[in-house]
Amino acid sequence: MLVPDSGFVCYQPNVLIADGKPVSTPVLEGNMFKPNADFVMSHITAKSRLMIVNSPNNPTGAVFSYDDLASLSKLAIERDLIVISDEVYERITYDEAKHYCLASFPRMRERALVVGSFSRTYAMTGFRIRHVLDPEELITPMKLTN
Ligand SMILES: Cc1ncc(COP(=O)(O)O)c(C=O)c1O
Repeated sequence: MLVPDSGFVCYQPNVLIADGKPVSTPVLEGNMFKPNADFVMSHITAKSRLMIVNSPNNPTGAVFSYDDLASLSKLAIERDLIVISDEVYERITYDEAKHYCLASFPRMRERALVVGSFSRTYAMTGFRIRHVLDPEELITPMKLTN
């Protein structure tokens, strides 16, 4: 699984718990902490299956543009990757920054798992409520393992 670095601290341990192999894909200050699709591409191998995208981002605060997400979508389609799109900060943007849902990009509905959380959106941290939007064939095994 391609994991952004810097990224939310739980990503790498969760991949390990699921017997996956996290592969760090650095995001650089010089690119305003946004992923560069060509650079991400250089970390993809024949074994790559999943990619985490997190915008708005914790910890960097980067909000990926439409073009950033379009490039990552194109990459995911070309390399047949499932994308876990962590959008828990979707309602917390400032100034001109605009959030785009990755599943709204062409042909991404079938390969994006969009994650949201009541903790952030409604300041309901103690309730531990999250939601996931994804295709039925992906959500069915998730239900079985919970
Ligand atoms: C990027 C990101 N994703 C997911 C979570 C998890 O949110 P929660 O466990 O509060 O639902 C957090 C919490 O800090 C986060 O920063």
